[in-house]
Amino acid sequence: MSGSVPRLRLPSGRTIPALGLGTWRMGVDRTQRRREIAALRLGLDLGMTLIDTAEMYGEGGAEEVVGQAIAGRRDDVFLVSKVYPHNATRAGAVAACERSLKRLKVECLDLYLLHWRERVPLAETLDAFDTLARAGKIRDHGVRNFDVADLDEWTALPGGEGVAANQVLYNLRRRGIEWRLLDGCRRRGVVVMAYSPIDQGRLVRRRALTAVADRHQVTPAQVALAWVLRQPGVVVLPKSADARHVRENRAALDVRLTPDDLRELDAAFPPPSGPMPLEML
Ligand SMILES: NC(=O)c1ccc[n+]([C@@H]2O[C@H](COP(=O)([O-])OP(=O)(O)OC[C@H]3O[C@@H](n4cnc5c(N)ncnc54)[C@H](OP(=O)(O)O)[C@@H]3O)[C@@H](O)[C@H]2O)c1
Repeated sequence: MSGSVPRLRLPSGRTIPALGLGTWRMGVDRTQRRREIAALRLGLDLGMTLIDTAEMYGEGGAEEVVGQAIAGRRDDVFLVSKVYPHNATRAGAVAACERSLKRLKVECLDLYLLHWRERVPLAETLDAFDTLARAGKIRDHGVRNFDVADLDEWTALPGGEGVAANQVLYNLRRRGIEWRLLDGCRRRGVVVMAYSPIDQGRLVRRRALTAVADRHQVTPAQVALAWVLRQPGVVVLPKSADARHVRENRAALDVRLTPDDLRELDAAFPPPSGPMPLEML
């Protein structure tokens, strides 16, 4: 297995690991809690030190799971959480962040994202992010599901030019961001965080991936991850509560897809041929 997980540079100068651990659907079923904590701890042991969570996941349950998983090793972790749009007001986002910090049992988040855009004016949310940063409660801020126009609006606001990351759906089956958004983020130095990189597990059953995986003697999930990992400026966020899958996902960093592999995958999952609305799950 390769040495360490590569890191990408954020506009603030801080760095973020290129491969992390998702937590969606964790913290929902109490009987799964020990397994989820063990999977996250294993990921940390293997050097996957970025953990992505949100106040929405399990209505705080996922943050509690993360809090237990990182107990005693906060300094090793790059911690990301997200604020609900209805909480993203000037006072609401500060209060929501403080609740998240309490559940996570930490003093500070490395990255705090607006979970998606709704009615609260973006300037208010940015104001709250600024207050949180000044108070030392968040280090960087970012957004999720922002297309080019939203990003233009955000970066035109005071403080918005510091946006560190845009978390979007990106995998072999969902390549719409390759038309404009991916380059738009790269030009601004905004890191793209690819969520659902295995398309929530659906990609493991696709024949095109199986064929490539067999040639490399790896699994289809590893091919799906390697395909996203090869993109510059992109962080990849698979979720797994299964120890075997966590090990596999970490080892995806060692898979080098060849030009022939990429041609085959392009034929099965063509890149966008024109603009399309940002896909979401
Ligand atoms: N879905 C969204 O709308 C969304 C939005 C924003 C952010 N995110 C973030 O992105 C993370 C990842 O996205 P996601 O959870 O939607 O989808 P995903 O990571 O593409 O897929 C997760 C599913 O794939 C399975 N899996 C993981 N590794 C595998 C492997 N090596 N082989 C076979 N199956 C494997 C998992 O099952 P096991 O647990 O059994 O391994 C789970 O069912 C989220 O957890 C969250 O932190 C998601």
